[in-house]
Amino acid sequence: MGLDIDENKTMTYLTQTAPITLSTLTQYKQKGEKFSCLTCYDASFAHAMQLADIDTILIGDSLGMVVQGQSSTLPVGVHDMVYHTQNVVRGNSHALILCDLPFMSYATLSDAIASAKAVMQAGANVVKIEGGSELAPMVSVLANNGVPTCVHLGLTPQSVNVFGGYKVQGKTDAQADKLMKDCTAVVNAGASLLLLECVPASLAKAVTERFAVPVIGIGAGVDCDGQVLVMHDMIGVYTRKPAKFVKDFLTDDSNQTKDIVGAFKAYHRAVKQRAFPTEKHSFL
Ligand code: KIV
Repeated sequence: MGLDIDENKTMTYLTQTAPITLSTLTQYKQKGEKFSCLTCYDASFAHAMQLADIDTILIGDSLGMVVQGQSSTLPVGVHDMVYHTQNVVRGNSHALILCDLPFMSYATLSDAIASAKAVMQAGANVVKIEGGSELAPMVSVLANNGVPTCVHLGLTPQSVNVFGGYKVQGKTDAQADKLMKDCTAVVNAGASLLLLECVPASLAKAVTERFAVPVIGIGAGVDCDGQVLVMHDMIGVYTRKPAKFVKDFLTDDSNQTKDIVGAFKAYHRAVKQRAFPTEKHSFL
């Protein structure tokens, strides 16, 4: 998509590439083409992502940490997700829009329905929920009501107090077996996407090969169908020590870019060309 500033100083869209849909991502998977995903929370960065052709955007509850300055994602509410989703969709008409349902907003089926309704009506295309096989009935009800789900497994930040910190998950055979069973249950229930965070690369590869639905990775090795990073991390805006799977695409000299759109383009290109992530960004 191209964009220009006209004489009246209003932004006008010149050309527009087709919006990315779930079927686009499935076709990418079938063709072996990788896809890019970044978190985003406002219209200006969403627009910069459109200029860089980013395939999918996640309005992540990470906004609690990177936008609100909270120490975890737990304080984020549905109203926050609605507000940021409305802002993002005003700035981007290309990417598939994923939106997190925040902590405890899908503790019951009726909560999940109300929360999903709010973020879908704000402009999301897919809702992301954290958990495993216990989510299967919810995934099924949402799918039957026109709400596609992305199920986030592995390190699920809303359970940080259960895990006792942000740690790699699925390292033992028993944990890996459970994760595979969880994926099977939610895929059979109708999940449209899986997202794996901080799991060994070999486990993420096995999940990606086992299921027809696209699998997005973060700290999950080189073999997932799509890759996501928190936007602030990949432009070097850190409030804490960056994780092993993070790469700063703004100041990395090899990209020869010094602006934000250039950094987003470099990330998109690196994902498509399988230059990011590498083993250096993976847990083995
Ligand atoms: O909230 C978020 O940004 C996320 C990503 C880390 C995947 O869930």
